[in-house]
Amino acid sequence: MAKSEYVFQRVEDQRELERLRMIEQVFDPSSRRRLLSTGLKAGWRCLEVGPGAGSIMTWMGEVVGPTGQVVAVDLDPKFLSEAKRTNLSVIRADIRTAQLPEQSFDVVHARYVLIHVPEYETVLNRMLGCLKPGGWLVLEEPDFSASRGIEGTAEQLAAVGKINHAIHVMFERLGMDYALGQKLQALLLARGLQSVTMELDAPYSAGGSEMATIMRMSTVQLREKYLATGAVISEDLDSYCRFADDPKSRAIYYATIAVRGQKVEG
Ligand SMILES: C[S@@+](CC[C@H](N)C(=O)[O-])C[C@H]1O[C@@H](n2cnc3c(N)ncnc32)[C@H](O)[C@@H]1O
Repeated sequence: MAKSEYVFQRVEDQRELERLRMIEQVFDPSSRRRLLSTGLKAGWRCLEVGPGAGSIMTWMGEVVGPTGQVVAVDLDPKFLSEAKRTNLSVIRADIRTAQLPEQSFDVVHARYVLIHVPEYETVLNRMLGCLKPGGWLVLEEPDFSASRGIEGTAEQLAAVGKINHAIHVMFERLGMDYALGQKLQALLLARGLQSVTMELDAPYSAGGSEMATIMRMSTVQLREKYLATGAVISEDLDSYCRFADDPKSRAIYYATIAVRGQKVEG
């Protein structure tokens, strides 16, 4: 299996931690609601794939309490040093090859992880294998094809389109799907999960908002990778960052598509 090509793997740490914390600030409330809707409670065993800065992992540890357990698997758990609770265990591993117990978890969750894995179908099968019969899979992945600039100067709106094209090309060259969120529901139904639900969240965001700031931060972190696609030049990236900071601008930066489904009993 090829070495992981996770696009944020070699970016600057402090900025990456800030970016991950902002993602948590914006998206944790919806993720918590979705996880609670599975019945998540004291005593459950949870698998968190790609915990990033770890807020969902830590929160699930609080919900499941001392009689439950949370196992987290991340390629590089460098931001998880504070995770010292006894019911949390962190495994440094690639989810494509990690040794995980079969039929062992009540819930398996990943947010913004499968989009970074070309072999997402294999990973999905492994995640399902880890679930107990009756256990829940909760996935939340982006759909960058939903992106569009709405209000801004002509130059800024053109830059939004170009940066989004660069994101498409970057993921495509790595064998990844920048619109993966769109496929999630079909992937779960094809695997026989029951009670499958889907939600789409495509916020209409002002410049300077948390969403715009997350995307500006990603652009700073991935600047060289976007330039390497040939789809953008430096001026486009600068224009995009000004757009993302401008309170008069409006855009849909991407959509998050979330699915939830239950593994069939017995
Ligand atoms: C964009 S971050 C999302 C972090 C967190 N899930 C969140 O939404 O706040 C992606 C995370 O997945 C991890 N990751 C990426 N590819 C992985 C792989 N093949 N195996 C395990 N973890 C991976 C990264 O190290 C990172 O922590």
